[in-house]
Amino acid sequence: MSAPGSSDLVIVANRLPVDRVETSNGTPGWRRSPGGLVTAIEPVMRANEGTWIGWPGGTEQDLKPFEDDGMDLVPMTMTDREIENFYEGFANGTLWPLYHDLVAKPEFHREWWDSYVAVNKRFAERAAEYASEDATVWVHDYQMQLVPQMLRELRPDLRIGFYLHIPFPPAELFQQLPWRRQILEGLLGADLVGFQLPGAAANFVRLVRQRVGHKTHRELIYLPDGRTVRAGAFPISIDAAGFEELSRSEPVAQRAAEIREALGSPRKVFLGIDRLDYTKGIYARLRAFSELIADGHFDVEDAVFVQVAVPSREQVEQYRILRDEIDRLVGRINGDLGRIGRPAISYLHSSYPREEMAALYRMADIMVVTPYRDGMNLVAKEYVACRFENDGALVLSEFAGAADELRQAWLINPYDINGMKAALLEAYQADGRELGRRMRAMRRTISQHDVAAWADSFMAELAAVRPTHGKAVRPARRS
Ligand code: G6P
Repeated sequence: MSAPGSSDLVIVANRLPVDRVETSNGTPGWRRSPGGLVTAIEPVMRANEGTWIGWPGGTEQDLKPFEDDGMDLVPMTMTDREIENFYEGFANGTLWPLYHDLVAKPEFHREWWDSYVAVNKRFAERAAEYASEDATVWVHDYQMQLVPQMLRELRPDLRIGFYLHIPFPPAELFQQLPWRRQILEGLLGADLVGFQLPGAAANFVRLVRQRVGHKTHRELIYLPDGRTVRAGAFPISIDAAGFEELSRSEPVAQRAAEIREALGSPRKVFLGIDRLDYTKGIYARLRAFSELIADGHFDVEDAVFVQVAVPSREQVEQYRILRDEIDRLVGRINGDLGRIGRPAISYLHSSYPREEMAALYRMADIMVVTPYRDGMNLVAKEYVACRFENDGALVLSEFAGAADELRQAWLINPYDINGMKAALLEAYQADGRELGRRMRAMRRTISQHDVAAWADSFMAELAAVRPTHGKAVRPARRS
């Protein structure tokens, strides 16, 4: 167990990799947290025996640092008010919609901002406490954007990296934020600020020049105190080999066959897996699918849609509204188009372990990923990793970061329902040769750029930006 002052690598993220939950017999236990962030950071954490500082969900106080599955975890507590104002409020009611192209309307409240400052300060103080002399601290995502600067003030010896897992908006949108300057200055406390795509890094540099007035040259920002900050793109990925191995395993193969049979052995299965979030375009995709049936292109004996919606941020109003809308839509589609024992859409509002996800990926013929805006979308990459027989089709939104790499998917504009219908139909009708050509190319991309390569390139760049300080961080890639 790492003691204060002893850690050479400290991860700061809003969430711990595990969530505090009540088990079936009523005792408290731990369960893996939702979302792509956690999956991505684990390998580098393990390779470096790092310490992870984050919130375990809930309001339980007095949780002590502990070890879980070989990782040192330091739980941060949050009060009911902080969950309301910091987490549901500023993080997910202001920043999340603002950074996702205003898919929903962001709200600006001063008490939400005050709470964001207070929580970021507490996380920064805890990181300062655990980091050893000259350690590396890697801060993650939109909930923690003030931590780099706060931490630098407390501990100028540290090497600090920041990575944003979600999109970073163009200046025209970002400037709506009343606290835009504070956020930019917060991020500039880092030595390296990483984004998913080059466009996001360019948005950030331009904003720093315009709003803070620092000199910039390409990806570099020159601060008056002599420090140089680098902004760059590091597209995140998945444990591709791990997913493939799982997908090839006998239990997963069996489970995949079982699911298919339970669906009534239709000719083709479409699949969507998302957190239940308004950025994901779930409504539009289900409508497009149902219209293909209504238009007579296929019927429910030919094709069904399995939609997994992982519960998320359920106290936030826009998420509740979305849930009701999807519930109604699924009910209507199944009422209109389903037959006895054969609904058009199998809708599951639940989260599943990795094995079940792999079985779903392995069983589905067409994976449908249609966000209006998405930092990367790891589900698209996981599907590709699981298709070791070079079959299966991916229909992917142009507005997901993953579309930059997965060029051989059927790329769609999720706002264009007719275009989406045409792509779904093409993917449905594609022959084995066409599927193989596309899938082989995407699989090559994924196997070369996996999550260990992502973490290693970020760490290498961070060490290059701040070469004279800091201890070396071991690569995440296992040799
Ligand atoms: C996205 C974000 C993560 C977040 C995850 C789950 O992947 O980038 O920072 O942890 O969603 O959302 P939640 O609000 O449950 O942490």
